[in-house]
Amino acid sequence: MSEQITATALATDVVVAVVGAGTMGAGIAQVAAAAGHRVLLVDAQQGAAQKAREQIQRGLESRVVQGKMSFDDSAALLGCIEAVLDLEHLGRAGLVIEAIFESLEVKQALFSKLEGIVAQDAILATNTSSVSVTAIASALKHPGRLLGMHFFNPAPVMKLVEVVSGLQTEAKVAESIYATAIAWKKKPVHARSTPGFIVNRVARPYYAEALRVVEEGAASPEQLDTLLSRGAGFRMGPFRLMDLIGNDVNYAVTQSTFNSYFGDSRYRPALLQGELVDAGRLGRKTGHGFYDYAQTAVDETTLQAISLNGSVEVSGDTAPIAALLARLEATGVQLNVAVSTTPAVIRYGRATLMMTNGLPATLRADSLGQGLVVFDLADDYGQVSDLAIAVQDGAEEAVCTDAVALFTSLGIRAHVLDDVPGLIVARTLAMLANEAAEALLSRIGTAQGIDDAMRFGVNYPHGPLEWADRIGTAYFVEVLDGLRASYGDDRYRVSVKLRRVARLGNRFHV
Ligand code: NAI
Repeated sequence: MSEQITATALATDVVVAVVGAGTMGAGIAQVAAAAGHRVLLVDAQQGAAQKAREQIQRGLESRVVQGKMSFDDSAALLGCIEAVLDLEHLGRAGLVIEAIFESLEVKQALFSKLEGIVAQDAILATNTSSVSVTAIASALKHPGRLLGMHFFNPAPVMKLVEVVSGLQTEAKVAESIYATAIAWKKKPVHARSTPGFIVNRVARPYYAEALRVVEEGAASPEQLDTLLSRGAGFRMGPFRLMDLIGNDVNYAVTQSTFNSYFGDSRYRPALLQGELVDAGRLGRKTGHGFYDYAQTAVDETTLQAISLNGSVEVSGDTAPIAALLARLEATGVQLNVAVSTTPAVIRYGRATLMMTNGLPATLRADSLGQGLVVFDLADDYGQVSDLAIAVQDGAEEAVCTDAVALFTSLGIRAHVLDDVPGLIVARTLAMLANEAAEALLSRIGTAQGIDDAMRFGVNYPHGPLEWADRIGTAYFVEVLDGLRASYGDDRYRVSVKLRRVARLGNRFHV
């Protein structure tokens, strides 16, 4: 990646060819045409390119009907797309984007053929999600002109394009496509050709941690979806998202990442998801995945307003939970605070509460008597409506009742999980930040590029490194160390990059 080279976008009179007129190819053709290029669309299957063009036409017509586009603009866009019969018609193309079957051999064969058809300065791009760009290029006489141009589905809607450089990709080619993606109104990020590039790699813990918590029987998919969307601001919880993507597709991506990283436990697939695939419960497309889409959703009970009996005592470093304490204060309860540098402890009734540090309450409880409750991290304690809590094993019933009452008095629904390490928001955000730090360490992208990729490729409310800066790198290190101590699993090893940034008290974004 060479950020210093400035390149200009391909001129709009450069002809763009799209090979493979399926889901992605049709969308990419539309994007290029909308930017003013003449687009040649071709597919190995007879009639497929013409069908894709008709599908684009129907999509444009409905935008015109909805008043989102003028008739003239839609006609002009469609006029730019030409379905052609075979590769031999692509001689005029200055950029060819391949969106065919996901196979190294098939892609290599296509690009070798294309080299004999297009001009020597034409750029060759692959939309692959999982095949090595370096390996595809190795079959070419001029491998420097091939790169990844990885769009996200649906291509006309999703902003992100990963501009993926293989080992031999020339910097000026990557920069030119980066500039072109901007001209196409996309958000490009540079990435190095490594398994999963940025998004499909850094996103793995979002699914993996939630799957592990469900496998342990500590919570239901519904609960975790609610907690991650309301506690961290994700648009869609991991289980609804896996059902939307398709459990077969999501499971295959995890397996491929796991295999490509030589069985690194960070990417270990979940048996639970494999079992759903075996059962044919692939998600929305089959009507049943983690959720049964034939059933109507159960209405949530409304939280009854309550006031606390007695005072709340707080001691320790209150900074991480300041917004929670402000909410407590606003209820009018008697709040006694003694600030120090040790982790904050809240006492109410029989309950002693602490923010999770990655250890289960039961393992942390030794010095704190019999009533320890850990509560989850929230992106914003000032706004959060749902929070996971866990009570140490063997605690009397009143401990849980008092902890739930404390949160209920703040208008927060406490979801009591089994005593699982790191609950769900803390472990998920810490693992996402750790994965992003590891990608940064390996120079797969820049800090800004990695965060942008997650925001624009999978709609995360914040980039994982930005989250680490906001919440605290030292806290994420503590949570990961707690998880590793609890499970003894290498998967939770802290990235040396995250540890270094935390040690110096630095931030990923200056
Ligand atoms: P698709 O199955 O919808 O379309 C592939 C098309 O390529 C088919 O119309 C097929 O007839 C055609 N084709 C196959 N071999 C060909 C060849 N040798 N020459 C010309 N045409 C050929 O597949 P989809 O989903 O559009 O995926 C295409 C590529 O985009 C794959 O590499 C995939 O990994 C990647 N991708 C897919 C995403 C998705 O969400 N579907 C997202 C991002 C990338």
